[in-house]
Amino acid sequence: MDAFALLVGGILPYLTVVVFLVGMGYRFRAWFKAPQPGKMTLFPAPDSTAGGVLAETLFFPSLFKGDKVLWSFAWIFHATLALVFLGHIRVFTGLVDRILMAVGMSADNIGVMSATAGGVAGVVLLGTGLLLLIRRLTIQRVREISRVPDFFALLLLIAIIGTGDLMRFGPHFDLEQTRVWARSLLAFSPDVPRNGLFLVHALFAMLLIIYVPFSKILHFGGIFFTQTLVKRS
Ligand code: HEM
Repeated sequence: MDAFALLVGGILPYLTVVVFLVGMGYRFRAWFKAPQPGKMTLFPAPDSTAGGVLAETLFFPSLFKGDKVLWSFAWIFHATLALVFLGHIRVFTGLVDRILMAVGMSADNIGVMSATAGGVAGVVLLGTGLLLLIRRLTIQRVREISRVPDFFALLLLIAIIGTGDLMRFGPHFDLEQTRVWARSLLAFSPDVPRNGLFLVHALFAMLLIIYVPFSKILHFGGIFFTQTLVKRS
């Protein structure tokens, strides 16, 4: 196995899992231990509703009230990201195919549906990701508060989405190779696909996963803490 494939497909996945889990544990511990002045409290507060937090998580109503243009880019970006996440459960496990076949869908129809949904989601995601980047670069008040980590996270996401789209629309990549790889990792005997694009896509993706606990991308976890504080103030 060549060195790049071994590093990306055989070593980095284990490192990613360890750094992610330890990093998340560290961040949640820090949030739980943060001093709380006054009567502020952390989720779940007595007067917070699970429905309210769920609505904020799914539809971003606070952002909608504050900035409707940003809300539209951000919501479409996150919704398509969720769709792509679902698609990756199929890429990794084939579970989605088994469920759809059990309800009577043919393999051909599943392929067409996946190609359409994955293709559209990939293109929309790239478009909204680029719009979010252009917004940071062109609107002065946004540029003034943007720092290197903000650009790094967006550029990393765009690189992952771009390489994913190239795999989707470029030369055929047999998804079974990803499943073999995932199973081999669980058996601690890595069998790594030798596809350059796959390795670059996976490398960027794992760098993103490692970066999550130490970055603003973790806002998806913070919402369960901050929403209650916001609602009570
Ligand atoms: C180690 C982790 C990952 C692996 C092994 C992986 C693998 C793949 C594969 C094999 C494809 C091609 C699917 C096809 O042709 O049907 C793909 C597509 C794609 N990936 Fe990933 N991926 C990973 C993580 C991510 C992450 C974290 C993101 C986004 C933040 C992402 C975004 C995309 C997009 C946008 C596409 C194109 C649209 C689609 O096919 O769904 N991937 N990925």
